[in-house]
Amino acid sequence: MTTSGRKVSLTGIKPTGEPHIGNYIGAIKPALELAEQYEAMYFIADYHALTTVRDPELLRHYSRSVAATWLAAGLDPERITMYLQSDVPETFELTWILSCVTAKGMMNRAHAYKAARDRNAESGKEDLDAGVNMGTYNYPVLMAADILLMDSDVVPVGKDQSQHVEYAADIAGSFNHLFGGGKPVLKIPALVVPEADTGKTLPGTDGRKMSKSYDNTIPLFLESAKLKKLVRRIPTDSTPVEDPKDPDSSSVFQILEQFATPDVTTDVRKRLEAGGVGWGELKNTLFEVLDEKLGPLRARYDELMLPGSELTDLLAAGADKARVRAREVLGRVREATGIQ
Ligand code: ADP
Ligand code: TRP
Repeated sequence: MTTSGRKVSLTGIKPTGEPHIGNYIGAIKPALELAEQYEAMYFIADYHALTTVRDPELLRHYSRSVAATWLAAGLDPERITMYLQSDVPETFELTWILSCVTAKGMMNRAHAYKAARDRNAESGKEDLDAGVNMGTYNYPVLMAADILLMDSDVVPVGKDQSQHVEYAADIAGSFNHLFGGGKPVLKIPALVVPEADTGKTLPGTDGRKMSKSYDNTIPLFLESAKLKKLVRRIPTDSTPVEDPKDPDSSSVFQILEQFATPDVTTDVRKRLEAGGVGWGELKNTLFEVLDEKLGPLRARYDELMLPGSELTDLLAAGADKARVRAREVLGRVREATGIQ
C-alpha cells in the first residue's frame, strides 16, 4: 500500500523492439486500465533486454521509444510512476541478496532457460548450455528483485510471464523464512491476469500472430503512407467482391474489430456477410480507423522522441520516486540480513 491507500501494481516492459499494434491491444491497453485501480508503476526493463540486445544505439532507442509509447498511449505521468530499471541501482543489491536465498534447482526449471536447452537438444548439440548466458539464467532473480524492491502488491502479466511472478513470490517466502524470523520483511506479490487479457492475439501482415520474431508487425506509430502500405499487405482470400464473406476468418476484420467503435464493427460485419464489399474496401476502412485512432498518439510520441523533450525529466522524476521506495525496502532487507 501507499500513502494513497491504494495497492501497488508493477508492470515491466522489455525494450527489445519497436512497439506494434499487437502490443498495444495485448499489453498496453490492458495495462492502462490498471492506473484506474492501483497505484500503478511502470518501468522499462533495460537490463533484462541486455540478455539479447547487443547494439548500444538500439538499446537506447528502444528504451526511449517504449517509454514514449506508453506515455503517448495515455499514461498520465502525474498519476503513475514510470522509470528506467537502470536508474534504480538498488535493484542489483537486492538481486544478489535474493540469489543467496534462491535454490539453483528452481532456476534450472525456469521456462526460458529450459526452452534454450531444449532448442540445443533438438539441434543435436552436445552442450545443452551452449549459447546460454548467465543473464538468461539469472533473469528470474533480477525480475524478482524488480518486483520485491517496490513492495508490489500485484504484478499483472500475460501467461508467458506468470512463472516469473510465482518465482518472485517463492523467493520472497524463502527470504522471509530465513531472515524474517516469521516477519514479512518482503511483501509477497500476487499474480493478476489483466481483465482485458482475453488471450486474443492480433494477426500480422502474413496472417500469423503479429510478432517481432516473425517480422510481420504493423508498428504502432508508423506514418500514414507507410501504414497504408502495410495494411494493403495483409493477406486475404480470393472471394469475389459480390460474394458473402466470413468476417471472423479475416485478419483485416480481426484487427478492425479491436480498433473500431462497436457501431462501425457491427456495420462492417453485416456488410461483409451480405456480400458486395471487397477486401480492398475493407482494407481502406481499416487504414482510416487506424490512422484516425493512432494519429494523435503518434503526434505525441513524435514530440516525446525529440532530443531535449520532457521524456528525460519525466523518467528522472519517476526514478526519484521509485528510489524512495527502493531504499525503504532495501533498508529492511539490510537490517534483516546483517549487511551494514
Ligand atoms: P513480440 O511477439 O512482438 O516479440 P512481445 O513478446 O515483446 O512481442 O510482447 C509483449 C506483450 O505484447 C506480450 O506480453 C503480449 O501480451 C502482447 N502481444 C504481443 N504480440 C501480440 C499480438 N499479436 N496480439 C496481442 N497481444 C500481443
Ligand atoms: N520479463 C518481462 C517480459 O519479458 C519484463 C519484466 C522484467 C517484468 N521485470 C519485470 C514484468 C517485473 C513484470 C514485473 O515481458
